[in-house]
Amino acid sequence: MTMARVSLRARVTFRDPAVEVEVPIGITLLEAAMSTGAVTAGTCGGICACGGCHVRVEEGAQYLSTATEREEDQLDRVFDVRQSSRLACQARIIAGGDIIVRKGDIG
Ligand code: FES
Repeated sequence: MTMARVSLRARVTFRDPAVEVEVPIGITLLEAAMSTGAVTAGTCGGICACGGCHVRVEEGAQYLSTATEREEDQLDRVFDVRQSSRLACQARIIAGGDIIVRKGDIG
């Protein structure tokens, strides 16, 4: 019998500046980003209260937790929100795969 191979890590590529990191499943995009210095936490420190960690997920959104109502409410206060917008402190990596993220505007 052949067992399906499940990856317990995800590869996250941040653009501007371009940096790639392999991270364990279960951490947030903000935690992944902070490990590289690509994105810093907003003024709230990662509690979904400032919008400063706005990112756009260009690929791999299916490997992330879905946005909660609280996150969507906070995104409503962020400049130039798009369909791909997420708050990095709230988007948790839930499956292995390739994720590409660009820093969003915070206005
Ligand atoms: S760090 Fe403040 S909302 Fe994410």
